[in-house]
Amino acid sequence: MLTGKEQRGFKMRELRVQTKSRPYSVFVGIDLLTQLPILLLRHEVQTKQKLFLVTDSHVYPLYANGILGSLQAAGYDVHIAVIPAGEKSKSLETLDQLYSDAIKAGLDRSSVVLALGGGVVGDLAGFFAASFMRGIPFVQIPTTLLAHDSSIGGKVGINHKLGKNYMGAFHQPLFVLFDVKFLASLPERELVSGFAEVVKHAFIWDKQFVAWLEGNNKALMQRDLPILEEAIYQGCKVKISVVSDDERENGIRAILNYGHTIGHALESVSEYQFYTHGEAISIGMVGAAMLSVDVLDAPSSLIQDTETLLRKFSLPTRIENNWSDEALLQVMKRDKKAKLGNYTFVLSEEVGKTQVVNGISEAKIREVLQKLKRGG
Ligand SMILES: NC(=O)c1ccc[n+]([C@@H]2O[C@H](COP(=O)([O-])OP(=O)(O)OC[C@H]3O[C@@H](n4cnc5c(N)ncnc54)[C@H](O)[C@@H]3O)[C@@H](O)[C@H]2O)c1
Ligand SMILES: [Zn+2]
Repeated sequence: MLTGKEQRGFKMRELRVQTKSRPYSVFVGIDLLTQLPILLLRHEVQTKQKLFLVTDSHVYPLYANGILGSLQAAGYDVHIAVIPAGEKSKSLETLDQLYSDAIKAGLDRSSVVLALGGGVVGDLAGFFAASFMRGIPFVQIPTTLLAHDSSIGGKVGINHKLGKNYMGAFHQPLFVLFDVKFLASLPERELVSGFAEVVKHAFIWDKQFVAWLEGNNKALMQRDLPILEEAIYQGCKVKISVVSDDERENGIRAILNYGHTIGHALESVSEYQFYTHGEAISIGMVGAAMLSVDVLDAPSSLIQDTETLLRKFSLPTRIENNWSDEALLQVMKRDKKAKLGNYTFVLSEEVGKTQVVNGISEAKIREVLQKLKRGG
């Protein structure tokens, strides 16, 4: 399944995602962006097909010119849409703006969308691509560490004013191009947030990956690019293994929500203002480890190991503010994974053995919330 490719002295690694709809590649490497025109041609995107580059207001000034230059040099006709940076742009209003821009630019069924940015751009531009003219192809070019997760698997969508990710689709990209060099300009807090998803991928899948993250923690925090590349590559491998088995989230794909039940509740009660997604799921993973020890008899070292690794990545492991248990439980009840009003959690028997557990009692969750709040 894995192939390392040397091209003119430059290394790019390729992973394949097998889905029922269509297989596709994830390319990971340093300076990979230079290969974008070649990769487009390799995927049979001809220069007569219009390209619609969607990016955000932070990424645009850093990278758009370079990309535009290389695409135009290769003969492509590129239209650019720049959305305001931030979660608020995953909205119907911004989507509508993209439709207007695209129609004015004369996009048609053969046009291809390039999503250049973090998870916000990927989700929004992907949903645009899924719906414009009943679906046109798109390429994911993730620029945040977190987006190694969000760019794979084909889930795209936008938020409603009453809640996150209410409208969406499954639309698999033509390919994913992860140039690790993007991470050099990422704000520290966003980098740290992305490590939470990397740690999650390690915990749900692979003991060796956990050990590797421990051993390479310093280099990762210092943004050593080859080490970051390895972390992304391994993280993508886990995500791919899970989604390749279960494209539409009927079974195993749910384990990707490890740490997300409490995490989503924290994001929601704090109105997405206090925690980044990664910070919230970091605390959520500690909560999931505590519940795992209680419900599944997981070894108590799971809690310690989880916390130690997350702290090494400067991630929070405790709830610092006094959000009310009632408000948190209310969100957890509404969680899309909750079935028949029971609390549902992804728990871990040990590293790499993760499962969905239904029917968890409210009392047990209250206990965990108390521990997370008082630092016990
Ligand atoms: N589709 C999925 O499967 C999936 C999975 C996980 C998360 N998500 C979604 O992803 C979103 C979060 O993604 P995110 O954390 O990447 O947030 P983001 O896209 O908002 O990016 C974070 C910040 O970093 C900036 N930025 C991005 N790349 C940069 C770079 N290289 N240099 C400097 N600044 C840069 C952005 O402008 C933004 O301000 C959420 O909306 C979440 O719902 C989707
Ligand atoms: Zn997540």
